[in-house]
Amino acid sequence: MEKLTIALLGGGVVGSEVARTLLEDAEALAERVGAPLELRNVVVRDLGKERPGIPRELLTDDAEAALADADIVVELMGGIEPARSLILSALARGSSVVTANKALLAQSFPELLAAADESAVRLEFEAAVAGAIPIVRPLNDSLAGDRVTRVMGIVNGTTNYILDQMAREGWDFAHALRTAQELGYAEADPTADIEGLDAAAKAAIIASLAFQVPVSIDDVHVEGITGVSADMIATAQAQGFTIKLLAICERLEGEDAGVSARVYPALVSREHPLASVSGAYNAVFVEADAAGSLMFYGQGAGGAPTSSAVLGDVVSVARRRVLGGRGQAAAQVRGGSRVLPISA
Ligand code: NDP
Ligand code: HSE
Repeated sequence: MEKLTIALLGGGVVGSEVARTLLEDAEALAERVGAPLELRNVVVRDLGKERPGIPRELLTDDAEAALADADIVVELMGGIEPARSLILSALARGSSVVTANKALLAQSFPELLAAADESAVRLEFEAAVAGAIPIVRPLNDSLAGDRVTRVMGIVNGTTNYILDQMAREGWDFAHALRTAQELGYAEADPTADIEGLDAAAKAAIIASLAFQVPVSIDDVHVEGITGVSADMIATAQAQGFTIKLLAICERLEGEDAGVSARVYPALVSREHPLASVSGAYNAVFVEADAAGSLMFYGQGAGGAPTSSAVLGDVVSVARRRVLGGRGQAAAQVRGGSRVLPISA
């Protein structure tokens, strides 16, 4: 079995989890893929920082050199540049790319997809929306034969954690935000979370996939949670409501036909399933003509949950490289080559 080489751009909250799993679970991953995955290097800015679980000899600050000969490039640096140029460079070299970078996707989606198409390689980004929850693939693939009309939900873990801690524990905003940062939920610059921009980036990606039109973050109406006070939360609670930052993407019909995407703090009735989404959990409701209503729920932020989605994409693109055009079904069978007992 020929091995597949991986360049990991970023060794922070998510990158370090991905690196650790690639190294510790190498045997199981090789079995699932049908070939060993070799983590060649981890690109960081600060070579002196302690990174438990990542051998020092894998660390480099030379991102361009790290791309050379990589079958798969995993971009977990965040931000627009140099992430955009590095992804374009990797795609042009024929590497498959996995990214969790919603800020970049919400700005440069058509450019990145065109670059992947041109090189006939995969660009996967399940982790860019709602952490561990599989929502990108359902919108892009599973529901591609249906007509999605509305996607609504909580897609930012940091703000949900802050609002939840303020409501349940009486924490002040600053303390809740600091803790969300310590837990690895927040963006490198948490302004993106609290001003609603991270949720807006995810709304743009969701709307693009659900309605098959390019929607950028500039098309999304955004209000964050910085104006939500403890008093507002208490008043809402007294009246049977809870305040949640919602992202709502809709297909518009009639004279105003088009797509609407908006993010804002909303009053949610205590009886609604979204009201009980706590901590950094996310929940996404999808409505489609034939499928009806679907609900997706799970951990929306943090190193381990996000690494689950990233590694799912890595296994998926690796299987395709191993199997060429022979398809996904064969890959599933290969992964299940051992006979497992089935209990009643
Ligand atoms: P971190 O800030 O924790 O990590 C970023 C990593 O990238 C660090 O190792 C940093 O190096 C490295 N890096 C950044 N810029 C450069 C550069 N110019 N050159 C070399 N290395 C660089 O971010 P996260 O791990 O939290 O997030 C990574 C990506 O995943 C982002 O796109 C984020 O939006 C996305 N994401 C994050 C989630 C989360 O819960 N944290 C969930 C879903 C998606 P150094 O360590 O030396 O500073
Ligand atoms: N900062 C993001 C959040 C990370 O809190 O949801 C997950 O995308």
